[in-house]
Amino acid sequence: MNVTAPVALRVNPDVDAKTHPYISTGLSKNKFGIDSSAALSIYKSRNEFKNIQFTGIDMHIGSQIAYIEPFVEAISKLSELYFELRDEGLDLIHFDVGGGIGVQYNNEKSFTIEEFAEKTIPLFKKLSCKILFEPGRFLTANGGVLISEVLYNKQNGNKKFIIVDAAMNDLLRPTIYQAYHHIQPLQQHKERVDIVADIVGPVCETGDYFARDREITKTHSGEYLAIMSAGAYGMTMSSNYNGRRRPPEIIVDRDNIFVSRSRETFEHLLWDEKII
Ligand SMILES: Cc1ncc(COP(=O)(O)O)c(C=O)c1O
Repeated sequence: MNVTAPVALRVNPDVDAKTHPYISTGLSKNKFGIDSSAALSIYKSRNEFKNIQFTGIDMHIGSQIAYIEPFVEAISKLSELYFELRDEGLDLIHFDVGGGIGVQYNNEKSFTIEEFAEKTIPLFKKLSCKILFEPGRFLTANGGVLISEVLYNKQNGNKKFIIVDAAMNDLLRPTIYQAYHHIQPLQQHKERVDIVADIVGPVCETGDYFARDREITKTHSGEYLAIMSAGAYGMTMSSNYNGRRRPPEIIVDRDNIFVSRSRETFEHLLWDEKII
């Protein structure tokens, strides 16, 4: 087709991002990227690829990373490769750091963007190319809330459950990462008592929960709970498991409120199903 494709290689720097193992992507045992020496030999054989121009080097070592050190280690390792390539006559146009900057879901310690900048800018200054970032969670996680209606309160012996109409198919993070999401009733009343309960959905899985043994204000059927920090890996990880229709998505922009994605119907579930 006479086209030259700009290509960057994702290099796996073999660095422990010290995050949940399911979202750690920069260790050599993880499936992502290629190791530095393989990358070096591919870049070096660039003349064999007539329709490819190697423009960059990429990494993404994981998500919800709470420490700066893994970024510093990975950037340093990939910088060595960058310099080696420059010595070989390959001037890359960009160095892509990927995403992974952690956010606060609870009271976990994280770092500020200023601290991140302080530690990484000296490293970037040594490179003479564009620096790219791919932040995802950092931009949206704390901007989204999942609103759910309380269906029932239930007690098995001493164990209390609050059953809500949202479920693991709407927000999968607690189920697969044992992730914490703060949960609070929309209506706050001073005279309310706190209870310790599991907040669970109606799906046929024990893993269908939003919180376990959580101290929470007692609520009644028909009230609403806000499940906080649901703006990243929420709707994008949702599914129709159990034949459930996903809720609408609503954007609140100061005083403007609009439905950006409508509530799913049975027609949505069945639109592409065929019997014969
Ligand atoms: C290649 C790549 N870049 C960026 C991201 C965004 O990561 P985060 O949301 O942790 O910033 C991901 C997430 O999986 C990714 O795979």
